[in-house]
Amino acid sequence: MPIEWNEKEEVFHLYNGKVSYFIQIVHGKYPAHLYWGRQVKTRQPSSILAFKGRAFSPTTEPEDPKFSLDTLPQEYPAYGNGDFRSPAYQLLSEDGSTITEFVYNSHEIFQGKRPLKGLPAAYVEDDSEADTLIITLVDSLLGVGLNLHYTIYSDLDVITRSASFENLGNREVELHKCLSMSVDFHQADWDWLHLHGTWSRERHIERQPLHHGLQTISSTRGASSHQHNPFVALLSKNANEESGDVYGVSLVYSGNFQAAIEVDPFQTTRLSIGINPFDFTWLLKPGETFQTPEAIMVYSSDGLGGMSRTYHKLLRTRVCRGVYRDKTRPILINNWEATYFDFNEKKLKEIAEAGNELGIELFVLDDGWFGHRDNDKSSLGDWVVYQKKLPNGLAGLADYIGKLGMKFGLWVEPEMVSPDSELYRRHPDWCLHVPGRRRTASRNQLVLDLSRKEVCNYLIDTLSKVFKSAAISYVKWDMNRNMTEIGSAALPPERQRETAHRYMLGLYRILEKLTERFPAILFESCSGGGGRFDPGMLYYMPQTWTSDDTDAVERLKIQYGTSLIYPAITMGAHVSDVPNHQVGRTTPLLMRCHVAMAANLGFELNIDKLSEGDKTLVAAQIQQYHQIKDLVCFGDQFRLLSPFAGMDTAWMYVSPKQERAVVFYYKTLAVPNPPFFRLKLRGLKREAMYKVNNGDKVFYGDELMQIGLTLPLIKKDYSSFLYRIEKVN
Ligand code: DGJ
Repeated sequence: MPIEWNEKEEVFHLYNGKVSYFIQIVHGKYPAHLYWGRQVKTRQPSSILAFKGRAFSPTTEPEDPKFSLDTLPQEYPAYGNGDFRSPAYQLLSEDGSTITEFVYNSHEIFQGKRPLKGLPAAYVEDDSEADTLIITLVDSLLGVGLNLHYTIYSDLDVITRSASFENLGNREVELHKCLSMSVDFHQADWDWLHLHGTWSRERHIERQPLHHGLQTISSTRGASSHQHNPFVALLSKNANEESGDVYGVSLVYSGNFQAAIEVDPFQTTRLSIGINPFDFTWLLKPGETFQTPEAIMVYSSDGLGGMSRTYHKLLRTRVCRGVYRDKTRPILINNWEATYFDFNEKKLKEIAEAGNELGIELFVLDDGWFGHRDNDKSSLGDWVVYQKKLPNGLAGLADYIGKLGMKFGLWVEPEMVSPDSELYRRHPDWCLHVPGRRRTASRNQLVLDLSRKEVCNYLIDTLSKVFKSAAISYVKWDMNRNMTEIGSAALPPERQRETAHRYMLGLYRILEKLTERFPAILFESCSGGGGRFDPGMLYYMPQTWTSDDTDAVERLKIQYGTSLIYPAITMGAHVSDVPNHQVGRTTPLLMRCHVAMAANLGFELNIDKLSEGDKTLVAAQIQQYHQIKDLVCFGDQFRLLSPFAGMDTAWMYVSPKQERAVVFYYKTLAVPNPPFFRLKLRGLKREAMYKVNNGDKVFYGDELMQIGLTLPLIKKDYSSFLYRIEKVN
C-alpha cells in the first residue's frame, strides 16, 4: 500500500517508488509537513522535525516549550492561535471570532480516488492507479470538521490535494478563506516561476529568487485570466530544463485564485494555492459541506522538462475526458480573421471549399451568425440564426460543408448577454449586478449570472437546441470579458460574496450536462484566446484556443510558456494572414505553418485568396502534419531552446517507444556571417540509430543528443526547419 500510517511515529508516508511525502501528527493534534521530494527511506521520520523555542513564537503545549505553531512546518495552517504566517483558511463563527483549533481526529486510507462533487478534478480509470488519504480534523468548539484529501498516483509523480469543511454542529459558520493546499518546505533557497501576461501575450515565463515575506500571484477577474495562470513552481537554484528539483502546483479551477509563497525568518517556505480569499465568503449552514477545488502537485528531479512531461501526461490522460481525449484533432479552418463579422453564406462556402481542396477537415463558423450581430454591440444571448447572413440556417450551411466531406463547427459565447438583445430585454436581472449601481460593460457586454439555477438551465436548453439544429461536430466556447459588480439578484445579502464561486459551479454544471449530452462534439474553450487556459476548463473541453495572437514570432513565446504545464494536444494554433493582425509583422508562410504544426493545427485566413504557390505549400504542410500529428499529440515534449533566451527556439516530440520524433527549430532574426549551429536533441535512445528526414546518413541517438544535429547556415529572418527522426532497425 503506497500510503502507510506509522502509528508509533504518528507519521503518514505517501510514496510511489519515485516520490515521498511525509506528514506527522505532532502532539497527536497538528498535521506537520515533514518532506516532499524524491523517494526516501527513513526509520524515524518523526526525527525530521527539529524544535527550538523562539522569542515571540507562542507555545501551545505547556510541557513542550520548544514547540510553537509559528515555527512548525504545517500542512494546513490556521491564523490566530500561534502561527503568524499566511494561513490556509479562516472561518468566522457566530460569536464574531475567527479563532479556530482544528486537531487530528481520524483518517481513512483507500485505493483509488473519489470525484469532487460539482468540481473538475484529476481522476482514475481504475482504483489501482492511485491511493488516497483523508485526514479528518475537528474543531470541537465550532462543531466543524476539516478533511484534508491527498491522492498519490502510482505511475506519475503527482500528488493531488484538496480540503473540505463540514459543518457538524448546529450553528452557522462563514468561510473567509479555504485554500486547496499548503506546504511548508524546510528551506528557502529557491527560485519561483510563474506564467504572466495579458490578452494576446499570454503565459510568458518569469523566474525570480524568493525574498523574505510574501510573494503572490492571483486573479480577481472571475476567470483564471490572461494575467496569471493558476500555477506556480519552486525551483532549486541549479534547476534548468533537464535537471534540478522543481515543485509545481497547479489549480484545477477556472475562477479567482491565489498562489502564495511566504518565506519566514527561519528559512521555511510556505507554498499555497486555492480560491482567492479576496472578496470571497461562504456561509456554511449546519449539515453543509464546502469542497475546495483540487491542486495538482508535481515533483520533478529532472528540471522543468520533467515537471512539464508529468503535467502533460496527467492533464492529457487523467484530466481531459471524452472521445477526443485519445484522438488527434481535425485540422480546422476558422473564418474569424478572414471575415470578422462581415460574411455571408457565399463567402463562408468559398473559404470552406478552398480549405477542403488543401486537405482541411473542419470548417468553423465564428462570431456573428446569430441575432442581428453585425458587430460586437449586440445579440449575445439570442442564439437564433441571423437569417440575413445565413438564409438556409445553420443546417443549410452544415449540410453543404458536410457534402464537401468536411465537418462543421460553431462558435458560441453562452456566458454573456448584450444589453441590446432579446434575452436582456426579457431578463434584465439575469446578469451579474448590484442594485442601484452601474452595470459596467466590457466589449459592450454583461456577464450572465450563472450562480442562478434558472439561468444555467436556460443555457443548457438553448444550447442543446442549437447543437441539435445542425450537424455540429465542434464547438468553440468563448468568453470575452471579466466580471465587474459581482453580485446576484437571487442571493441574500450574506451570500453575495459567494457569487463568483457559485458562478464557476454553475458553469461547470452547464459544461458537465452539455458534454454528457453531446459526447461526439469536440469542445474548444476560449476566453479572448487564452484567458481561461486552465486544468478546470480542460476537464470539460480538451483543447483551448491558446491566444488571439497568431503572429508566428509571438506564438513561440506563448506556446513555449504554455507548454510548461499544458500538452500540445490541448493547444489550438492557427496559421493566419500577414501582415499579422495583432502585431503587423510579416513572417513566411512556412514558419507560420511550422509554429501551428507544433500544436493542433488550424487556419484562420482567406485561404481562397492565397497564391497557387502558397496553396501548394499549405497542402504539403498538411500532408506533413498527418505524418507527425501523433507525435505532437501523444509524444513526450522536450524543449531545446527558449524564445525567452534569444533568437532561437526549438522543441521536439518523441514517441513513447523512442522510435520516432519530430523536431522544430525556428530562427527569428538572422545574424550576419553566422557560425555553424548544432542542435542537441533529447529523449532518444542513446544506442539506437536514427535517420533524419529519411536521409542517407545514420546517427546514433547519443550522437544526436551529445554532438547535435548540424543546422544549415541561416541567412534569412524568420527561418524554420522541421526534422523527422526515425529509428533504423
Ligand atoms: C475572441 C476569440 O479569441 C476570437 O478567436 C474570436 O472568436 C472572437 N472572440 C470573436 O468574437
